[in-house]
Amino acid sequence: MTIPTQDELETVVFTIEDGIAWVSFNRPEKRNCMSPKLNRQMMRVLDELEFREDVGVLVLAGEGSAWSAGMDLHEYFRENEAKGLGAIRQAQRESYGWWRRLRWYQKPTIAMVHGWCFGGAYGPLFGCDLAFAAEEAQFGLSEINWGILPGGGATKIAVELLNFRNAMYHAMMGENVDGKKAAEWGLVNEAVPLVQLKERVSEVAKVLLQKNPVALKATKDAIRRVGEMTFDNAEDYLVRAQEAANSFDNDGRKEGIKQFLDDKTYKPGLGSYNKSKGGR
Ligand code: COA
Repeated sequence: MTIPTQDELETVVFTIEDGIAWVSFNRPEKRNCMSPKLNRQMMRVLDELEFREDVGVLVLAGEGSAWSAGMDLHEYFRENEAKGLGAIRQAQRESYGWWRRLRWYQKPTIAMVHGWCFGGAYGPLFGCDLAFAAEEAQFGLSEINWGILPGGGATKIAVELLNFRNAMYHAMMGENVDGKKAAEWGLVNEAVPLVQLKERVSEVAKVLLQKNPVALKATKDAIRRVGEMTFDNAEDYLVRAQEAANSFDNDGRKEGIKQFLDDKTYKPGLGSYNKSKGGR
């Protein structure tokens, strides 16, 4: 294994505050486009944060004016194409690898998109469980503008998140949509003015921090899995997933039932049980 250079380590920055890991793409001068170095470093950061006790939610943000301008046309495409198929495939494994890792991450994840979000950046956008955008953000499948199809899963993501007509228009026309339209189309959960974005994301993250972490992981996986299943398969999967979650270090569930049925201190239909009183 090669030891990463300092400039590779600096492609991603993070801080941890009150249970929230704020992770940022950190190539602002290149609009946070994803180079092989950034892709490798992001995987290292995800590894480092995934099972830390002091991290309950991960937010993916970007330094500078962009969230991410997609794949690095120079370092990801041109340089690897010059090296040959082996290098191309390795770079694909590195980028697709961390996006997949994000899709199945142990902790809940939120994309906080304040600026440009293009092409390959739809990979981590979809990788995050929730996504919030600034109304001013710009989203685009710009691939058609420079002569390729939206690869790296971007076409699949467009079809997963948008309706047929919008997906087709978005991919064929190469026009950008702002955060408001992205929310209307379902690319993100919600758009708010840029000045309110971090506050809104913090608010959502804090709610997630109050939930049972075992149930959250089971829930986010279930939402991603059942879409591809028949109804009967989904029903069966969900029975098994719940049974697994019940037996997996999940005292919080018993505490949640107790606080509702015995203590009568909360109603699950109206909010969460008090985690500080027991369970996890
Ligand atoms: N790949 C490689 N370099 C990129 C890049 C990308 N995807 N996106 C931005 N950069 C580089 C620029 O080449 C420029 O480098 P330089 O300073 O060495 O000349 C630097 O980042 C700043 O970009 P610039 O275009 O000057 O910034 P801008 O704020 O005027 O415009 C964008 C921002 C995002 C609109 C514009 O950079 C752009 O169109 N990028 C490509 C987006 C894209 O199609 N991505 C899809 C890839 S799958």
